[in-house]
Amino acid sequence: LLPLSRRIASGQAEPPPADWAEAFGRPAPLEVDLGSGRGAYALERARREPGLNVLALEARHKWVQLIRRLAERDRLGNIRALACDIQQDLGALLAPGSVQGFTILHPDPWWKKRHHKRRLVRPSMVALLGDLLAPGGFVFLQTDVPQLADEAAEAFGAARSLEPMDPEAWFVERLGGVLSHRGQRCRKLGIPVRRLAYRKRPGARP
Ligand SMILES: C[S@@+](CC[C@H](N)C(=O)[O-])C[C@H]1O[C@@H](n2cnc3c(N)ncnc32)[C@H](O)[C@@H]1O
Repeated sequence: LLPLSRRIASGQAEPPPADWAEAFGRPAPLEVDLGSGRGAYALERARREPGLNVLALEARHKWVQLIRRLAERDRLGNIRALACDIQQDLGALLAPGSVQGFTILHPDPWWKKRHHKRRLVRPSMVALLGDLLAPGGFVFLQTDVPQLADEAAEAFGAARSLEPMDPEAWFVERLGGVLSHRGQRCRKLGIPVRRLAYRKRPGARP
C-alpha cells in the first residue's frame, strides 16, 4: 500500500481531520476501536457513553459506510468512522498522548506464516499505541485465538510504558460488558475468549 498522503492525493483515501475534537464538534475523552468491522461494539459504546468521542477505524469501506449510516439513523453524534490501514496510517491519524483508550476486538488472525507480519498487535504497534495514549489511558484486547492472545500478551508485557490490569474487571466495570459482532458470536457458540487490559503508567511520557 502507498503511504496515506499519496493515497489521499490520488483520491484512494479520505483525508483525516487535522483535529479530532473539532471533527467531533467538542473536546471529550477519545476512545479508538481498531478494526471495528460492522461497528457493533463502537456504536454501542458511543450510545452508552455519550460523554466519550468514539472513533472506529476499519479497512473495509463498506463497514465504515454502515457504521456512519447506523450512527446517523440512531442520531449518535459522538462516533466517527474512518477507512484506513491501521498498520500504516495510525501514527498519522492521531496525536501523541491524545487517546483515552484503544480497543482491539478479535483482530484478524492471518494464519499463514507469510501473512504473520499483517497481524495488528506486534511490538512496533504496541510502542505506537503507548505513544498515542494519554497517561492513564488503556488498551483492551479480546480474541478467540489463543496464539494471538499469547503473542499480544508478550508484546504488551514488554512495553515499559504499559502496566497490566485485570481484564475481566475492566471489561465488566469499565466497558460495560459490551461485545463486538464476533464477541457476540463467540458467546452464542460457547467459543472461549481471552481478554487483556493494560494501562499507560501515569508517570510515562505521552
Ligand atoms: C475479525 S474482524 C473483527 C471485527 C470486529 N472488531 C469484531 O470483533 O466483530 C477484524 C476486522 O479488522 C479489520 N482490519 C484488519 N486489518 C486492518 C488494518 N490493517 N486496518 C484497518 N482495519 C483492519 C478487518 O477489515 C475486519 O473488519
